[in-house]
Amino acid sequence: MGYRILETDDIPAYLHERGHWEDVSDIHVREVSDGNVNRVFLASSADGTRSLALKQALPWVRVAGPSWPLSPDRADAEARAYEQLAKVTPDEIPGIHGYDPENYALVMEDLSDLEVLRTLLNEGASYGPETSPQIGRLVARLSFTTSDFGMPSAERKALIAVSVNPELCKITEDVVLSEPYIEHEHNHWHEGVADLAAEFRADARLRTEVAALRHVFMTSAQALLHGDLHTGSIMVGVREGAHVVRVFDPEFSFVGPIGFDLGLYWANALVSEERARSLGRLTDHADQLRLSWEAFETEFRRLWPARVDTFFDDAYLDRFLAKVWTESLGFAGTEIIRRIIGFAHLTDLTTLPDPVPASRRALLLGRELIVRREELSSPDAVRQVVASLG
Ligand SMILES: Nc1ncnc2c1ncn2[C@@H]1O[C@H](COP(=O)(O)OP(=O)(O)OP(=O)(O)O)[C@@H](O)[C@H]1O
Ligand SMILES: [Mg+2]
Repeated sequence: MGYRILETDDIPAYLHERGHWEDVSDIHVREVSDGNVNRVFLASSADGTRSLALKQALPWVRVAGPSWPLSPDRADAEARAYEQLAKVTPDEIPGIHGYDPENYALVMEDLSDLEVLRTLLNEGASYGPETSPQIGRLVARLSFTTSDFGMPSAERKALIAVSVNPELCKITEDVVLSEPYIEHEHNHWHEGVADLAAEFRADARLRTEVAALRHVFMTSAQALLHGDLHTGSIMVGVREGAHVVRVFDPEFSFVGPIGFDLGLYWANALVSEERARSLGRLTDHADQLRLSWEAFETEFRRLWPARVDTFFDDAYLDRFLAKVWTESLGFAGTEIIRRIIGFAHLTDLTTLPDPVPASRRALLLGRELIVRREELSSPDAVRQVVASLG
């Protein structure tokens, strides 16, 4: 039938046709798209005992419409990422019921009983002891098993080939890894940080360091990434008395540098800390970088003895992890900066009564993480930078 753009009223027949739902008279559907890019529908039975979520990629950016075309192939990338994640960390992603490549539509578990982590944090919640360790472990499992340590060489080459995601990588290369450091129509900022935006554009050293990180992003095919691992791509909640974490929206997935996933998470954790500080409600925010890194490192080291290529020795593991750490800090810095003076800003800051002090601190922190990443050798060193921001 070809690619059909599904509307709310089409969903019952579609779910029936795809074998997801028997009795179509029983379905209630509502659209819940609150992201910028795709459409998301929730379907539930009249008695509320069954529900499913459906995400469809349109050939453009949803909020912009046909004037901003974007290949729906990003849904293939999302489905591929879930396929790998399901093998190694099935409990931390939505259950996937099926992917329809003809319609770029993914049918998955309804997570609407959970809350997006950013929303909770903005409302004043703490992270709690489990979320960041779970994220660190998830990154370790996905990255180890899709690296040359976890996957035979030929299989890896095939994964790299099939996982190219050129349009979404280009968005990152532009929006995160260059635009904030040049004059660009996408850039905008609060007038209270205009001086820093100008300073950053004029800072040759900063620009060269960002160029280095951009080149790492473009060339370092270490492992399959989530690609957009910010606090808006994580849902948390409690089910049957147990804390649950679900990572979703991996449409930016490709084979790239592991530090990009950790760095995005850290950037968002550090900005959430500045929000909490400015509101006088800091709790466990300052622990999250360390907790996620330690869980990542512990899990990666736990998997290491099972590596498929033992020419990579233990000393090389230490060297490799040190490189991932350093690159993560750099990518964290670029994500902080772009979220304040670049294209898409963070509600963590924009909803503050006065976003300026927290935004200034975050920008200065971002720059330090980029230019001093080689000398910041531990989570404590990062804490010292935060403490020195004044
Ligand atoms: N499985 C699900 N169950 C319930 N709600 C969901 C599910 N998947 C997505 N949503 C809701 O839809 C929103 C958008 O989903 P998602 O982030 O996957 O879409 P997107 O268009 O790619 O967003 P973005 O612009 O952030 O890239 C989520 O923030 C969430 O509120
Ligand atoms: Mg998305």
